[in-house]
Amino acid sequence: MAGTARRPLLVLLLVAGAAAIAESKPYAPADRVLLNCGSATDSLDGDGRKWMADTNDDTWLTDSGKSSLMMAADRMDNGLPSTIPYMTARVFTMEAVYNFTVNPRDRHWVRLHFYPSSYNGLAPDGFHFSVTTSTGLTLLRNFSAYTYAKALSQAFIIREFSLPPTPAGFLSITFTPMPVGNDTYAFVNGIEVISMPDLFSDPATMVGFADQTVDIAGAALQTMYRFNVGGMYIPPSNDSGLTRQWYDDTPYVLGPVQGVIYRAGPHFQLKYPSEVAEYAAPPEVYLGTRSMGSDPRLNQNYNLTWTMPVDCNFTYVARLHFCELLLSRPNQRAFDIYVNNKTAQSDADVIGMTTEKGVPMYKDFAVSVADEPGDEAMWVALHPSVALRPQFYDATLNGLEVFKINGTDGNLAGPNPDPSRLLAKAELGAGDEGVPRTHGHRNMGTVMGGTAGGAAALGLVAAICVEKKSRELAAAGGSHTSGWLPLFHSHTSNKSSGHLAANLAGMCRHFSFADIKVATKNFSESLVIGVGGFGKVYRGVVDGDTKVAIKRSNPSSEQGVHEFQTEVEMLSKLRHRHLVSLIGFCEDAGEMILVYDYMEHGTLREHLYMGGKPPLSWRHRLDICIGAARGLHYLHTGAKYTIIHRDVKTTNILVDGDWVAKVSDFGLSKSGPTTVNQTHVSTMVKGSFGYLDPEYFRRQQLTDKSDVYSFGVVLFEVLLARPALDPALPREQVSLADYALLCQRNGTLKDVIDPAIKDQIAPECLKKFADTAEKCIGEQGIERPSMGDVLWNLEFAMQLQDAFEGGSCGGRRPAGEGSGTAGRSAAALEPSNSNGSAASVTTLETSSTTRPPHEACIIVEENDDEVANSAAFSQLVRPTGR
Ligand SMILES: *[C@@H]1O[C@H](CO)[C@@H](O)[C@H](O)[C@H]1NC(C)=O
Ligand SMILES: *[C@@H]1O[C@H](CO)[C@@H](O)[C@H](O)[C@H]1NC(C)=O
Ligand SMILES: *[C@@H]1O[C@H](CO)[C@@H](O)[C@H](O)[C@H]1NC(C)=O
Ligand SMILES: *[C@@H]1O[C@H](CO)[C@@H](O)[C@H](O)[C@H]1NC(C)=O
Ligand SMILES: *[C@@H]1O[C@H](CO)[C@@H](O)[C@H](O)[C@H]1NC(C)=O
Ligand SMILES: *[C@@H]1O[C@H](CO)[C@@H](O)[C@H](O)[C@H]1NC(C)=O
Ligand SMILES: *[C@@H]1O[C@H](CO)[C@@H](O)[C@H](O)[C@H]1NC(C)=O
Ligand SMILES: *[C@@H]1O[C@H](CO)[C@@H](O)[C@H](O)[C@H]1NC(C)=O
Ligand SMILES: *[C@@H]1O[C@H](CO)[C@@H](O)[C@H](O)[C@H]1NC(C)=O
Ligand SMILES: *[C@@H]1O[C@H](CO)[C@@H](O)[C@H](O)[C@H]1NC(C)=O
Repeated sequence: MAGTARRPLLVLLLVAGAAAIAESKPYAPADRVLLNCGSATDSLDGDGRKWMADTNDDTWLTDSGKSSLMMAADRMDNGLPSTIPYMTARVFTMEAVYNFTVNPRDRHWVRLHFYPSSYNGLAPDGFHFSVTTSTGLTLLRNFSAYTYAKALSQAFIIREFSLPPTPAGFLSITFTPMPVGNDTYAFVNGIEVISMPDLFSDPATMVGFADQTVDIAGAALQTMYRFNVGGMYIPPSNDSGLTRQWYDDTPYVLGPVQGVIYRAGPHFQLKYPSEVAEYAAPPEVYLGTRSMGSDPRLNQNYNLTWTMPVDCNFTYVARLHFCELLLSRPNQRAFDIYVNNKTAQSDADVIGMTTEKGVPMYKDFAVSVADEPGDEAMWVALHPSVALRPQFYDATLNGLEVFKINGTDGNLAGPNPDPSRLLAKAELGAGDEGVPRTHGHRNMGTVMGGTAGGAAALGLVAAICVEKKSRELAAAGGSHTSGWLPLFHSHTSNKSSGHLAANLAGMCRHFSFADIKVATKNFSESLVIGVGGFGKVYRGVVDGDTKVAIKRSNPSSEQGVHEFQTEVEMLSKLRHRHLVSLIGFCEDAGEMILVYDYMEHGTLREHLYMGGKPPLSWRHRLDICIGAARGLHYLHTGAKYTIIHRDVKTTNILVDGDWVAKVSDFGLSKSGPTTVNQTHVSTMVKGSFGYLDPEYFRRQQLTDKSDVYSFGVVLFEVLLARPALDPALPREQVSLADYALLCQRNGTLKDVIDPAIKDQIAPECLKKFADTAEKCIGEQGIERPSMGDVLWNLEFAMQLQDAFEGGSCGGRRPAGEGSGTAGRSAAALEPSNSNGSAASVTTLETSSTTRPPHEACIIVEENDDEVANSAAFSQLVRPTGR
């Protein structure tokens, strides 16, 4: 296929005669039903979409719901994007049918939403069921939403299908409970049935078989992945009326070389072709791209690759979306496209195919995934076309979707994942020879959640095919025996049992299991000081008299594995006066135990309310806030890359015997963006209600400003001495953030502060403190100050307090004060800011607008190994002297 610059590319021409249109009109679906199952009222979800009660007589549920029960979830998981439709469910004990009247000419999205919680005491693992349609399709078979959610570390699962037109004019969806033990229940939280434009009329090219195509026009499809490549999460409400969700592709890019991201400027005009492709993807997708980078040598030596686990024994369609944003002549940028290591198309030239800049297009490639080791994932790879000698050796992609095609028996269902195999799989993904490796740990994030949220929620993942490999590895004496920590630096240490030990050696101490047993009096219940999802925390003593806190992970809690590892990794690298230190760990006997400094005075919260402790003085409180701010500021800026805590709250701020505040619990931390043009990490929402940044919640984009928001709530909590959320209070007061903001804005804040400290606060200090807290909980991240600014302002507030108390600060500081302000004179109203440079009193007001956006890099989650690999890799492929 090598050719000259003028080779005939017209075969691929998708958009001949494309009409230039400035903007696409939103698609208006003929049928649009969103059912909030098990609810008696209509409600709006977090995106403002209206969900209807499914109780309306027999409009939808054919037996008027006689065979079913309406139930509310027993608990609300922090990972839910919205209470609607997840907090209510319809639970079936026998076969039940939802019947929808549909436009016979339209294709339809069918989306099923599942939140595997316990309902009225019914255990979440008791639900196994199949879902079939009146058109002969099996959407789910013996499906366990619980198993999926657990395997993916997700709170909820969404399954999206695109069903071909049903000439009968109705579509019924049948839920059939499957017996497991004595339980036979089915459930569903939400059902969407929505018309869609015909996006699948053209056949897909069969990869590896010249001239063969796969007809998808009549097929039922399940969405496996949908990425806004090089872009951010796009919610259903922003998808040109098509209600799809587009996720950030970053976790699926095979590292460490992840290319560069480019976004067109605000005035860039897309020219959508006049056909249906108008709705192929929203403008957001086409306006941003990931390309290989500017170094031609480097580009020639690697493939820009995405890998996505899928179920075997199915045929898949990969839809690649392109739009040239920079170049305008043919053969400026041409590249080869590989799907599952086979050439899907050589010499692809986007301008050659579209004829001009700014014209969106897509290409569909079909590939069968068999039940063979190494074949359980979709690989999409791009490489510059050397044969064509284009002007730039580069490749680019704007969007990527992967759909599963129904089998001839109408089946779309894959097996339930096996969580332990899934872990093994994530590890295997990290070790193929000759390919730049992703780190085991990062891959874990990929499969188990993180940004993968989306894809995970779409319910992909087939772990079943790895069985053989994991058995081989296990036989080789691999590190799988512990079962719950297999991903930690996996590819370096199959053979050593103490791989964690090796990795952390020199950073902290290794305890034997016997040491730990002695320290905790054989895990005496009387020494338990905390219980979490990961297991229990014990008070203990080592070396005769050193008090420690010992966190013993419950080996059966798979959910915490990822968080646990994150915490070890973070803590072992981070040392700071205001962060809880890891003293050591124990990895013997299949146990995973962490040993921390003991925090004599417990959590900040118990000294504010509901702890039965005498109320802390205002100075103490302010001092603790300053310490915590210092710890967070260090997390954000002190390490090599930004670390976002993600769960800042008063129970994660601990106080030691000298009243020094320490930030704890990095289990949810994420490395933040480190590059210039990327200011957020897109991720599944985690954290605690009441403290959650609304922007993060809405857009699933994590920034350091999400921590600033939570910290603002902490500041108000310290001032008002009440919980962040208190459902027992009158409605306007339930949320502390909302209530404090109202009071602050109408000038009544001083009336609601904790009576215990009311008379101690200097008015100017209160003003500075409250203004700072208010700015922290600004609606938009961009409006909020940085943690450094917050710190500076709190220190300033402390000085105002000092001045008010007449310069007698030295003697009145809390015992063990150490935040760094102690020695500073109260008269010095110009403290240095956190960077040590002089700052004026107006820092807070100006800095958030004048400071440049966050620094960035292309690899979002990285660690030392990867950085090293990546550096080595670059040296290898980029010869000097070029
Ligand atoms: C669904 O509704 C259609 C008519 O709207 C009816 O013909 C069909 O029998 C119904 N299906 C079931 C299972 O009730
Ligand atoms: C469904 O899955 C459960 C758990 O994996 C299993 O025990 C049961 O036998 C399966 N039922 C059928 C009909 O396959
Ligand atoms: C299933 O039901 C039988 C009869 O009611 C009972 O004896 C048995 O213990 C139950 N099994 C489980 C696992 O609950
Ligand atoms: C959704 O669209 C609106 C209006 O175009 C825009 O302001 C908003 O930022 C978009 N949200 C996301 C998450 O893209
Ligand atoms: C895939 O198909 C083969 C051959 O029909 C079968 O042996 C294998 O069990 C199937 N694998 C799965 C995971 O269904
Ligand atoms: C890119 O991928 C193709 C298909 O897997 C492979 O043949 C080729 O060697 C790869 N190129 C590089 C530089 O890795
Ligand atoms: C593609 O090639 C890579 C690297 O050789 C290999 O690890 C992977 O399993 C292959 N993928 C498929 C689907 O064959
Ligand atoms: C599933 O797909 C095949 C091939 O794409 C098609 O022939 C068949 O009619 C589809 N539907 C069912 C219910 O099998
Ligand atoms: C970041 O964006 C600016 C302007 O938008 C551009 O000049 C610069 O090259 C971009 N940097 C990277 C690494 O993409
Ligand atoms: C200020 O707002 C709070 C909270 O809504 C309310 O309770 C209080 O009555 C308001 N006070 C005034 C003077 O408006």
